[in-house]
Amino acid sequence: MEEIDFKRHRRLRKNAFMRDLVRENHLSTDDLIYPLFVVEGEKIRNPVPSMPGIEQISLDYLADEIRELQTLGIKAVLLFGIPNEKDHVGSGAYDENGIVQKAIQLIKSEVPEMLVIADTCLCEYTDHGHCGLIIDGEVANDPSLQLHVKTAISQAKAGADIIAPSNMMDGFVKAIRKGLDNNGFSYVPIMSYAVKYASAFYGPFRDAADSAPQFGDRKTYQMDPANRLEALREAEADVEEGADFLIVKPGMPYMDIIRDVKNAFHLPIVAYNVSGEYSMVKAAALNGWIDEKQIVMELLTGFKRAGADLIITYFAKDVAKWLNESS
Ligand code: PBG
Ligand code: ZN
Repeated sequence: MEEIDFKRHRRLRKNAFMRDLVRENHLSTDDLIYPLFVVEGEKIRNPVPSMPGIEQISLDYLADEIRELQTLGIKAVLLFGIPNEKDHVGSGAYDENGIVQKAIQLIKSEVPEMLVIADTCLCEYTDHGHCGLIIDGEVANDPSLQLHVKTAISQAKAGADIIAPSNMMDGFVKAIRKGLDNNGFSYVPIMSYAVKYASAFYGPFRDAADSAPQFGDRKTYQMDPANRLEALREAEADVEEGADFLIVKPGMPYMDIIRDVKNAFHLPIVAYNVSGEYSMVKAAALNGWIDEKQIVMELLTGFKRAGADLIITYFAKDVAKWLNESS
């Protein structure tokens, strides 16, 4: 026999059982967080044209939707509210009877086991569509913080299990942590959108949530896609200020950042597989150009491999179905 001087990697790929045995990363329904868009009114299931399969839904349909998610094994939802009225200061965001506050109360009374994560921002509630207060034509940092704190407290009062601030003002984690603690919510965790890039991948979401900025863009508060060290500075500050989870957003173009943040900090890391990523995959799938199931499973497994512990994704229901079929 001739001697070989190379490694036989294919030994461990010989058949499906062998591959199962050595697989390093696994996707489970426990990893999934499903975003929901809730609207005022009744009997509304309003499809979002740029996100096939995603709808805005009214409160009377919400309990059924949550039960369906529960049956699929999904444990957590991320709530976005779309109010009827918007104003300059985003009053709807911190209104005790606001759309999100009502949605949280309803879910917690109908399906208490479902973990409710409240997105804390103003952009769905302001007439100008920015994530903070506009003063002298600019998004003002410190005055905006007070409104984000009010919003977070109102969400916690309504029963939110986790507060997820997405506004990208400086100091938001510290301000919200203090506000929650002073109001008896020391045990409500903060899932910080720590690393959030100023991304074109949010386009379809802004249709779904009716939250596009009416002037300018978000580049003075969201991050420059070219930067890596800045992501670590952002995350570091949030860890110091008391964040319990760190979100990296978007997901697909920023897998390197997910890995960097995972290696640098010892908190659960969340990848946000955003609207534009969903729409691209859906569009190709609907054209028959790709195999949707294979592509989505590969993509989400990629997030796990990159270091994500949790994944916020509009594919959560589909993925849960596929996982349930194969187990
Ligand atoms: C609000 C918010 C946005 C997203 C989550 N929270 C939009 C934005 O910042 O413009 C994007 C989610 C997605 O695209 O799926 N601040
Ligand atoms: Zn916002």
